[in-house]
Amino acid sequence: MTPTEFVKDIMKENEALFKASKMNVKKYFEDQPDQSHLVDHFIGRMVNEHMNFEEITQQLHDNDKMPKDERALLAKQAMDEAKHTKMVREVIEHILGEEIDFDAAVAREKELNTAKGATLLETYGAQDDEAALAAYQLVAEGRAQAVWDQMADTIEDDFIATRYREIAKDEGFHSKIGARKLSKIATTESIQDKVRTLVSNMRKDLFEISCKNTTEAPGARQLVQEAYGW
Ligand SMILES: [Fe+2]
Ligand SMILES: [Fe+2]
Repeated sequence: MTPTEFVKDIMKENEALFKASKMNVKKYFEDQPDQSHLVDHFIGRMVNEHMNFEEITQQLHDNDKMPKDERALLAKQAMDEAKHTKMVREVIEHILGEEIDFDAAVAREKELNTAKGATLLETYGAQDDEAALAAYQLVAEGRAQAVWDQMADTIEDDFIATRYREIAKDEGFHSKIGARKLSKIATTESIQDKVRTLVSNMRKDLFEISCKNTTEAPGARQLVQEAYGW
């Protein structure tokens, strides 16, 4: 398979995970969580964005040999994640009608170690493995786009929906960074096999995270089980 075909294939296969995640998000918000659950939920998302920011800036710091154009794209992603953190914070403060203690929220979330995509970067050793990072971007950032879009669709409050729509757009761009990189490096069968294994583990982990973070919508698990042969 050419690298381009390979990336297309992975993207097509991701669709079942994205669809199942959207089903979970839709159900979670349609069930109208009360204010305190909603705030907790968004604090989790805010901290996840902040962790993405920290992870990407660390990457930039550690990989100073990375080609300049790739560094520039990652820098853009880091800036976006910082912006997302701020936007979700604004949403939380909009719901509460008061300011929150950001540092305390981050510390508490990190201690609770609740289900988060950002911790997966570490699990897969994506810090020092460019194929793992690219695969992660393709799967996790692509899923993030689907999830933020679903929130923008389901949440009726315009203040929230417009912000989440903008976040979704950025996440789509981040997944393209992964696609671009992967189509440069997935040149051999052994790299492609390695990425396939990684991606299939990521999909499994991300589906479980989706269920824990939101809810398990009827039919969601069956959809991914059938698509991936779990
Ligand atoms: Fe983000
Ligand atoms: Fe992102």
